[in-house]
Amino acid sequence: MKVISIVGARPNFMKVAPIHKAFGKLNKKINKKIEHLICHTGQHYDANMSKIFFEELELPKPDFYLGVGSGSHAEQTAKIMIEFEKVLIDEKPDLIIVVGDVNSTAACSIVAVKMGIKIAHVEAGLRSYDRTMPEEINRLLTDQIADYLFVTEKSGIENLKREGIPDNKIFFVGNVMIDSLIYYMPKAEKSKIISELKIGSTNFVLITLHRPANVDSPYFLKEMVSFLNTVAEKRPVVFPIHPRTSKNLKKYKIDRLLTKNVHLTDPIGYIDFLYLTKHAELIVTDSGGIQEESTYLGVQCITVRENTERPVTVEIGTNQLIGTDLEKVKNAAMDVLEGKLKQGSVPELWDGRAAERIVSILTDLDN
Ligand code: UD1
Repeated sequence: MKVISIVGARPNFMKVAPIHKAFGKLNKKINKKIEHLICHTGQHYDANMSKIFFEELELPKPDFYLGVGSGSHAEQTAKIMIEFEKVLIDEKPDLIIVVGDVNSTAACSIVAVKMGIKIAHVEAGLRSYDRTMPEEINRLLTDQIADYLFVTEKSGIENLKREGIPDNKIFFVGNVMIDSLIYYMPKAEKSKIISELKIGSTNFVLITLHRPANVDSPYFLKEMVSFLNTVAEKRPVVFPIHPRTSKNLKKYKIDRLLTKNVHLTDPIGYIDFLYLTKHAELIVTDSGGIQEESTYLGVQCITVRENTERPVTVEIGTNQLIGTDLEKVKNAAMDVLEGKLKQGSVPELWDGRAAERIVSILTDLDN
């Protein structure tokens, strides 16, 4: 059996790492050798958005690197499709595994389905019901054409059924990103990032904001600076900044308005970032994955979006969906810093074994 897993952008690497490990473990147990190859589309290409994750997650160098880089959605998607088709023609895998909802996920799935190659989608069924998000389109398309849909939370099962996906394609397996978090946390606990950042306190607020709907707007960015400066009066603020956000802050000359208790850093690797996530007093984010990581860790999280495709993090986790009005975000943040905490619990099957379940299902079904 030959399987190719696709990675493209930063949030993909920690999802494929446990799957790669699970195939390795299974291969040791059985005589039948399963060939698990990794294809990196090159959607993210800066060392601190890509290479550092391969090193830290102990992933082998990708077997295929498509080098597509940035571009408009059509450009990026088209380039991935053209290059990935060549890989499939040469390799003829039995199955591809795609994770999450980035452009690489949908692009590779479309190529595979037209060549009659089976597709497994890990993190299927999540829906924000906001079709202005490129990720929502990627999720919808991928789920319609995938053969195996691996779901992280129960809302995903309901969403897929509503879209007419038959029950026998849907598997509730848990969360591979949490597999990585559990596996790497002992290593992360040794991180020296706090002393390296010289923030002068072990209580800090962690910020990540990168969604185009937020950071492409100069109005939002100006409000964001005022929000960050207000929080920084209470606690040091650590803000590892995505290239998109960084470029826009410079473009609109807004970065200079930040006060010195706001610590802007380049994007941070997986291990140091896990440490920051676990030890933050509060996280303010518009990321998808961080809503889940903070829920698992029981860390207070404020999500700066109008909707979430990960409702379990709000229903039972420590996540609060506040919206993009930064005045409301500021009030919610101040409540947390004054001790008004949201209690949370860990969602079902987020136990570090999702990848094992996935690999076992895929290999059984193939027999
Ligand atoms: C992509 C995903 C998003 C995910 C995010 C995580 C899509 C549609 N979006 O968004 O779901 O949350 O990754 O980061 O797939 N850039 C660099 N260096 C890099 C990569 C990007 O400088 O290594 C800059 C480029 O200017 C590029 C911009 O960031 O144009 C955006 O990159 P892109 O891959 O298009 O989307 P993200 O915003 O990163």
